[in-house]
Amino acid sequence: MCIRDRQYSQLDRAPFQVADVHELLDSTLLMLSGKIGRGVEVVKEYDRTLPRIPAYPAELNQVWTNLIDNAVSAMNHADGDAARGTLTVRTAREHDRLLVEFRDTGAGIPAEIREHVFDPFFTTKPVGEGTGLGLDISWRIVVDRHHGSLRFDSEPGDTRFQVLLPLTAPDAPSEESV
Ligand SMILES: Nc1ncnc2c1ncn2[C@@H]1O[C@H](COP(=O)(O)OP(=O)(O)OP(=O)(O)O)[C@@H](O)[C@H]1O
Ligand SMILES: [Mg+2]
Repeated sequence: MCIRDRQYSQLDRAPFQVADVHELLDSTLLMLSGKIGRGVEVVKEYDRTLPRIPAYPAELNQVWTNLIDNAVSAMNHADGDAARGTLTVRTAREHDRLLVEFRDTGAGIPAEIREHVFDPFFTTKPVGEGTGLGLDISWRIVVDRHHGSLRFDSEPGDTRFQVLLPLTAPDAPSEESV
């Protein structure tokens, strides 16, 4: 909880920069490699032709962290064994937006909870393990801060969280509208 509060309070101070999404993804994957564990194969499907984008890099790293953490949790074994499966991180261009997709081979999101996963404090994790804020914070960062979108598709063995970010900064207000 403390860590989250601290991360979140930094949001407004983080500088808006031009960021290389692949560098951000690689550094987050490296940082989380211990947590991801050796039972999870990480597959990178990067479109290296994508341009750098305007972004708040530290905040995007927080989004990747939350989505990777969820993916790894979903591939955990009920018996407490380390996670096993495949995490695929893919980037692509989708019209005028940059797509970052996190795909896991976990059990999937049951239909009856799909409409709640972005709700603050919604969690299916045992007490003390999840605060249910990961997707709520990610939504705010992607949608509110970056004017992007966050969506998912899920079936057993194939869950994909997709982040879509604008490739260009929103236009500055014109003189007439000021
Ligand atoms: N990749 C996924 N596969 C299956 N279920 C998922 C996945 N991602 C999220 N969920 C479901 O959505 C719920 C909410 O996710 P969220 O990240 O907001 O909170 P959390 O992971 O439970 O806790 P926290 O992120 O605060 O540690 C999870 O408890 C889980 O039930
Ligand atoms: Mg989470």
